[in-house]
Amino acid sequence: IGLTDSSFMGSGSERRYEDLCRNIINDMNQYGLSVVDDFLGPETGLKILNEVRSMYNAGAFQDGQLQTDQTNPTAPTVPTVRGDKAVRGDKIKWVVGNETGCSNVRYLTNQIDSVVFRVNTMKDNGILGKYDIRERTRAMVACYPGSGTHYVMHVDNPSKDGRVITAIYYLNINWDARESGGILRIRPTPGTTVADIEPKFDRLIFFWSDGRNPHEVQPAHRTRYAITVWYFDAKEREEALNRALEKNKTNNAINNGTTQQDQDQHT
Ligand code: OGA
Ligand code: OGA
Ligand code: MN
Repeated sequence: IGLTDSSFMGSGSERRYEDLCRNIINDMNQYGLSVVDDFLGPETGLKILNEVRSMYNAGAFQDGQLQTDQTNPTAPTVPTVRGDKAVRGDKIKWVVGNETGCSNVRYLTNQIDSVVFRVNTMKDNGILGKYDIRERTRAMVACYPGSGTHYVMHVDNPSKDGRVITAIYYLNINWDARESGGILRIRPTPGTTVADIEPKFDRLIFFWSDGRNPHEVQPAHRTRYAITVWYFDAKEREEALNRALEKNKTNNAINNGTTQQDQDQHT
């Protein structure tokens, strides 16, 4: 996996930004994932970390949800199932960005958006060019509070819910995986290789959200913070929402005892 140094905000050079995007495109085409180190620089990274710490210490996090309603991954405020710590032990909070005390998280997501929209529209961008990315989920701020908390092997979008790219930004200063675990292990399919990614401070990663990238978070023995956003392909998303609408209609009809069959029989 090519490692890409960016700090493009600091240097402000259009050329470096172009190179960063080109590297991401190449990695996504070749490996299905891309790792960008030093994305925003230490000062900005620290502001984001402090904001996340404040949010976490304010106690506003909930147990990570299991994905039961695949059609609606963006509606965590209506949880259907409580988290299952055997599956995922993280504590999460969904953030739009305009809430008080979230300006640095919003800055981060704006920067990730810029990169994603750029690579989505650049010339000769290969697989990325197949998607039409106009929307994303809210930002999921996640904390694995040590004590061996983990997330078992899973695929983010196994059911064509619209999400095509997962982007994760890590916030953990001096992370030593030998001591603290917490590695993100991606097992790209097909193939026998694994990518072990340490959740390092100011590191940004991208990977395809679908079955190409099963992955797990190995047990973390130290507080581990990350911020994740998922980008939608417009067409896949629309189809998913239409399926959900149809399903709701059918369910409502069944609940009202007025399925088409019933109506046929009574008339
Ligand atoms: C997730 C996930 C990976 C990580 O939340 O779906 O896989 O490294 N997170 O935090
Ligand atoms: C740690 C730790 C908490 C934090 O470094 O092990 O728990 O807020 N950090 O970063
Ligand atoms: Mn995941």
